[in-house]
Amino acid sequence: MPNQLISKQPTHYDVIVVGAGPAGYSSAIRCAQLGLKTACVDNWRNKKGQRTLGGVHLNSGCVASITLLESAKLYHSLNHRISKHGIHAENISVDIPAMIQHKDDIIDALGHKISEVFAHHNIDSIHASGKLLKARQIEITPLDGTAASVLDAKHIILATGSSPIQLPYAKVDNEFIVDSFAALNLNSLPKKLAIIGAGVNGLELAAIWSRLGAETLLLDAQESFLSLPDQQISREAYRIFSAQGLDLRLGARVISAKKSRNKVIVDYQDQEGTHTLRVDKLIVASGRKPNTENLSAPEANLLLDENGYIHVDENCRTNLPGVYAIGDLNLLGPMLAHKGIEEGVFVAEQIAGLHSAIDYATLPSVIYTDPEIAWVGQTEQSLRTMGVAIKVGTFPLSATARAQAMGKTEGLVKIIAHAENDALLGVHIIGAHASELIAEAVLAMEFSASSEDLARTIHAHPTLSESFHEAALALKKMTMHLPL
Ligand code: NAI
Repeated sequence: MPNQLISKQPTHYDVIVVGAGPAGYSSAIRCAQLGLKTACVDNWRNKKGQRTLGGVHLNSGCVASITLLESAKLYHSLNHRISKHGIHAENISVDIPAMIQHKDDIIDALGHKISEVFAHHNIDSIHASGKLLKARQIEITPLDGTAASVLDAKHIILATGSSPIQLPYAKVDNEFIVDSFAALNLNSLPKKLAIIGAGVNGLELAAIWSRLGAETLLLDAQESFLSLPDQQISREAYRIFSAQGLDLRLGARVISAKKSRNKVIVDYQDQEGTHTLRVDKLIVASGRKPNTENLSAPEANLLLDENGYIHVDENCRTNLPGVYAIGDLNLLGPMLAHKGIEEGVFVAEQIAGLHSAIDYATLPSVIYTDPEIAWVGQTEQSLRTMGVAIKVGTFPLSATARAQAMGKTEGLVKIIAHAENDALLGVHIIGAHASELIAEAVLAMEFSASSEDLARTIHAHPTLSESFHEAALALKKMTMHLPL
């Protein structure tokens, strides 16, 4: 993709977006759709050193991860699941470089699609690093070594995303000790794999490599497993993942990791003392931090907190007039691509003078493991802590004909409604296609549905979505396919 011509003189735009991840590209697209002259500055380079749009999320985050997980699930099914169907496959083998190439082809194609949409809307796409200067100016430093220049705009949207936190005692070399990007680009299967962090990222990476045959263990300093989802779902996840063979060690703080003779020696501490592991690869998935280093010149006076997040108000406005921060850069919600996308659209519409709103209360969260975990709204724990009177209905996927037919019977749907007015307050799912099933719950909550509304909505039979319907019926002890 050719770089846009950068004039030596300041060039004026209505909007300059810095960053072309999901938050940035969707913001740029909506700005352009609303008639604003828009530029988007991004410095991502793919493995071949070529520019590509889509940022971390597309190139080394969820999209790359779900693509590899689909390949890994296919391999695992051929090896372990299909014989039950009377299908026998022999001599199944896995070609890791080919699998990685397949993933790269998909993300390249998707990145190209974003470029096409940019071109369609006449968005100036600039391959460079952008830095906020004073007075709504962006310094543009091209990656091809040409001189920096300055562009100015009426509005600036910062959307540079986040990157993995580095641990000083487990230095990433991306050969033996790898970050989450390199972990999606391994060129061979490690026999024994350790992961620091049993959070969202660690679990997603474990789902891929364990399915391909790596003996996988996760070390997490936290005593409890997955603190964000509803705890009933977290307990179920712990049970399912352990039964699948994942070695989940909680309360295990890694204190050192070093390469030694083509292995990684990992030291960790738990209640019983210090332990040493010898593994082929170590993945560091210990959290992410916002990419705000070098994003603004000191004289710009952009206000950040002590962890580098940009201070914003409820409209994503920073302390500087006309400057917005969206996606992983702010603390308005979790680091999720679709949160960034919505903020991108929200800010673009504000700039264009439209009335716009964003409802963080109905933001779905998804963990792309196998089975998947997805939720929207409040957990049972948080509601009980707040003293809200609730009623809870759960339904296991194993009681649906579709899950049985698919051989994907693990998991459950849990619905929480207000005890008095019946309003839906939270929906929590662990199971096959949870990421898709949750959309119905999001829509229901967006439309202020009650559990009665769900119970009276006709769901096709046999489908996985019936488990959602049945969970609503379970609230009234009126399930059809389970004796409750
Ligand atoms: P996380 O904060 O969820 O988990 C990191 C874990 O590493 C923590 O539990 C922490 O206790 C542990 N840890 C840190 N240092 C350690 C040490 N020395 N020894 C043992 N354990 C240690 O971070 P994660 O998984 O990297 O995710 C970061 C953000 O990115 C999250 O907000 C998440 O929502 C987002 N994300 C979202 C995805 C999705 O939507 N599917 C996918 C991946 C990330």
